[in-house]
Amino acid sequence: MKKTRLNKKKVAFAIILLIVIVAIIVTLVTCGIKYIIYLSSDEYKLKEIGYSEEQITTILKYATDNELEKIKNEKYEKQLTTFIEQKYFIYDKLADYIEYYNQDKTVDVSKVISIINVGADKDFYQDPKKTDTSLKELMLVNKFNYLDKTYVPENIVDVSVQYAYDDNEVPEFVYEKYLEMWNDANEDGLTLIMSSSYRDYQYQEELYNNYKNQNGTEWADSVAARAGYSEHQTGYALDIVTYNSTMEDFENSDEFKWLNENAYKYGFILRYPKDKEDITGYAYESWHYRYVGVEVASYIHENDITFDEYYAYFIENKQE
Ligand code: DAL
Ligand code: ZN
Repeated sequence: MKKTRLNKKKVAFAIILLIVIVAIIVTLVTCGIKYIIYLSSDEYKLKEIGYSEEQITTILKYATDNELEKIKNEKYEKQLTTFIEQKYFIYDKLADYIEYYNQDKTVDVSKVISIINVGADKDFYQDPKKTDTSLKELMLVNKFNYLDKTYVPENIVDVSVQYAYDDNEVPEFVYEKYLEMWNDANEDGLTLIMSSSYRDYQYQEELYNNYKNQNGTEWADSVAARAGYSEHQTGYALDIVTYNSTMEDFENSDEFKWLNENAYKYGFILRYPKDKEDITGYAYESWHYRYVGVEVASYIHENDITFDEYYAYFIENKQE
């Protein structure tokens, strides 16, 4: 009887001991596995490079898979997290952002991103390249991207003087979009008038030279494009005003207010907005609209960026 009780006690003890041993083994194995997983994690790798907990949280929140791979293979960069949070951050331009920012820390970080993305840290007209005209309404023509002397848009048609001053020509497709817009503005009691549209290379050359002769190169460059560098040569740019308004006072008209709220619905954007001179290279032009298609125009309108910035981030960056 006594012996049986003793045996039962021994068995119970053995079972408890076994449970404790199994529990210890399970815990050790789990911790081991967890540690092995941690050693191969992004967090561990970033920590090993030198990033702080806070920086790691930021990096993991904003970096794309591609960017994370690059970050993990490069050395610690203390300013990375200043830039990676920015919406239009392009990893391959990080060194340029840092260099530009360190020269002048009063510049807004998002402005640094924009300036570097569009290449406006360089002098305008420095190292320009021929633009890719196959992009059609998304082709970029600015102070770094030009058109051949001989480039002429396809299907150009005359614009009726009901909608424009004399001698305006635009590609047929742009005309259709402009007419849709014109009619809707007209239904709201407003009158748009196209004052300039497609301009060929020679015309632009004369125009630019006139400005230059009037007031010098610096001023001419702020208000007019050099020949080959004007969006007007693409056929996708329209100068729009209203009767009895000059270009300069167009911004005070109801027509301007209407365009500001509605032009994007027809695929047009205000191409040279206020306070974006350092990105576009041109003084504010309330009258210059560029056709880019409804989808892109809507994005640009909603996000308050220039076409140069859109192109740098969504077209050029994706091509590389
Ligand atoms: N005024 C614009 C910038 C042009 O000349 O194309
Ligand atoms: Zn214009």
